[in-house]
Amino acid sequence: MLFLDTKGAHIPILGLGTWELRGRECARLVEQAVRLGYRHFDTAQMYGNERDVGDGIRASGIKRSEVFVVTKVAPDHLAPGLLERSVKESIGYLRLGEIDLLLLHWPNKGIPLSETIDALVRVKREGLVRNIGVSNYTVALIEEAAKLSDERLVCNQIECHPYLDQSKVIAACRAHDMAVVAYSPIARGHTIDDAVMSRIGKVHGKTPAQVSLRYLIQQGIGAIPRTSRVERLAENIAIFDFELTDAEMVEIAALAHPDGRIVDWSWSPQWD
Ligand SMILES: NC(=O)c1ccc[n+]([C@@H]2O[C@H](COP(=O)([O-])OP(=O)(O)OC[C@H]3O[C@@H](n4cnc5c(N)ncnc54)[C@H](OP(=O)(O)O)[C@@H]3O)[C@@H](O)[C@H]2O)c1
Repeated sequence: MLFLDTKGAHIPILGLGTWELRGRECARLVEQAVRLGYRHFDTAQMYGNERDVGDGIRASGIKRSEVFVVTKVAPDHLAPGLLERSVKESIGYLRLGEIDLLLLHWPNKGIPLSETIDALVRVKREGLVRNIGVSNYTVALIEEAAKLSDERLVCNQIECHPYLDQSKVIAACRAHDMAVVAYSPIARGHTIDDAVMSRIGKVHGKTPAQVSLRYLIQQGIGAIPRTSRVERLAENIAIFDFELTDAEMVEIAALAHPDGRIVDWSWSPQWD
C-alpha cells in the first residue's frame, strides 16, 4: 500500500468509506476489507457506525498499529467542551485506543473557528488523537484554519472525482502540506456508465470504477470508496498494477463540469 506524503501522518492512500454501512454488515465488510489489504478506514460521528467499524477491525485480528482509523467530529459538536466530550465518546465506540486522524467533518458558521481549532489542538495534545485535519474546507477556510492552528492540519477530505474540478482547493492543500483525501471518489457509481472511463478501462483490463480511483491516486490524492459488496472491495483495491498515460489523465480531467458536485447541503460553505 502506498502512503500519502504528509510530512508526519502516514495515511494509506486507499481506504474504505463506510457512510450508510451499519451493524453486522458494516463490521463484516470492514473485517473482509482488512483481509483484502485495506489499511485505512473512514468513519464519522454522523454515520452512527463507529462501534461497527471498531468491531470489524478487531474481528480481523490485525495488529492495531497496522490500520489507520479516521473519524470526524459532527458539525454540532464543534464548540469547546462538546468537541472533547464527543471525541471521548468516539473512542469509546471504536474501542481501538487513540484515533489516528480526527477531522472536523464540516465547517459550522455558528461557532467561531478559533474556538474549534483550539479544542482540536487540545485533543491532540492530550493524546486522544494522533493527527488532526479538516473536511469540506475551502481555500479561504484552509488559510484561516492553518493560521489559527498551532499543530499541523494534515489532511483535507473533500469531494473529488473526474466530474469535479477541485484544482483550487487542492493547490491550497499542497501549499500547506495537507494531504488531499477524496470522498465520493467514484462519483457514487456514476463513473461506471461513462463511455470515456469504460474505453480507457478496456485498454488496461480495468473497470471504470478502477480507472476513476487510479486517476486520483496517480495524482497523489487519497481515495476512500465505499461499497456494500464484498466482490467490489477486491475490485476497488486492485488499482496498483496499472498506470494511466498522460493523455488518458488529461482526457479524464476534461470530464469535469460545473454541475459535477454531488454532495451539497444547506450548511455547505461557499465552494471555490
Ligand atoms: N467528509 C464528507 O463530508 C464525506 C461526504 C461523503 C462521503 N464521505 C466518505 O467517503 C466515502 C465514499 O464516498 P461515497 O460513499 O459518497 O461515494 P463513492 O464511494 O464514490 O460511491 C459509493 C457508491 O458506489 C457504488 N460502488 C462502489 N464500488 C463500486 C464499483 N467498483 N463499481 C460500481 N459501483 C460501485 C456503491 O454501491 P454498492 O454498495 O452497491 O457497491 C455505492 O453506491 C463515504 O462512504 C464516506 O466514508 C465523506
